Amino acid sequence: MQILTSIAALREWLARERSQGHTIGLVPTMGALHSGHMALVESARRHCDRVVMSIFVNPRQFGPNEDFDAYPRDLEGDCALAAAHGVDAVFAPSTEEMYPHAAGPLILAGRQAGILCGASRPGHFDGVLQVVCKLFNLVQPERAFFGKKDAQQVAIIQTFVRDYDLPLEIKVIPVVREPDGLAKSSRNVYLSATERAQAPAIHAALQLCRQRLQAGSAPDAALQAARAHIAQHMPEGRIDYLELLAWPDLLPLGEDDRQCIALAAVHLGRTRLIDNITFER
Ligand code: PAJ
Repeated sequence: MQILTSIAALREWLARERSQGHTIGLVPTMGALHSGHMALVESARRHCDRVVMSIFVNPRQFGPNEDFDAYPRDLEGDCALAAAHGVDAVFAPSTEEMYPHAAGPLILAGRQAGILCGASRPGHFDGVLQVVCKLFNLVQPERAFFGKKDAQQVAIIQTFVRDYDLPLEIKVIPVVREPDGLAKSSRNVYLSATERAQAPAIHAALQLCRQRLQAGSAPDAALQAARAHIAQHMPEGRIDYLELLAWPDLLPLGEDDRQCIALAAVHLGRTRLIDNITFER
């Protein structure tokens, strides 16, 4: 596996692969890899001849009071895991390599970025689109792979690709979970033992919301049941949002919408956990 830290080296490697007629799959990550990321790699290997994984903790998507400095970093461990799962090249640039101009042009993510995570993390999805756009331009992959774990991120990236006619396909991979239902996340390492024991209540609450809705409850009643579940089983938790929307538009759920998404973000100690489930009504 190649470890590339400069744009020049990445371009050279890509040119060689392209000249042999290989298709390229891109798996963007911020490292601290776990089996959720590996599910993206496995799908990329099935759909593309070569897999490039980017590992870059993107400062532009972190707010001033967020965990950019504390975000777990382990490039050596990440590269070993990536190599073991058949990644062909890791692109791990420095911040200076990615952003040579501190005050360069920006991309704004628009309406879908003003709700849910975007409401409590202003500018977050603008930063995500900026780095993702750069990675798409650098790698020019046939396909890029994203996890449903970050459903709002997926919706915003898909809108961007569609609205700006970017010439690639976005593949979306289902949420990978721990056996008790907790969605795998690089931030789970922040949880204390007590918090970790309570964390699966988020997924359970989303399932309860789905069951209630499918059994005929009104959306508000289904959400209320989910909130009560979190209050009871996660006494340390503080709900940031818990919502039911239409998927994939992320618009308020209308009478006729069949595809639903239930999403939650919950603060637990110093960790902010997010999760979601999609289902048919
Ligand atoms: P990161 O949090 O490292 O996640 C990289 C990719 O892995 C994302 O597409 C994310 O949705 C996916 N992923 C993480 N946990 C997952 C899980 N439990 N199941 C399925 N997929 C999972 O998301 C980012 O990085 C960044 O915002 C990025 C897109 C790289 C831009 O900086």
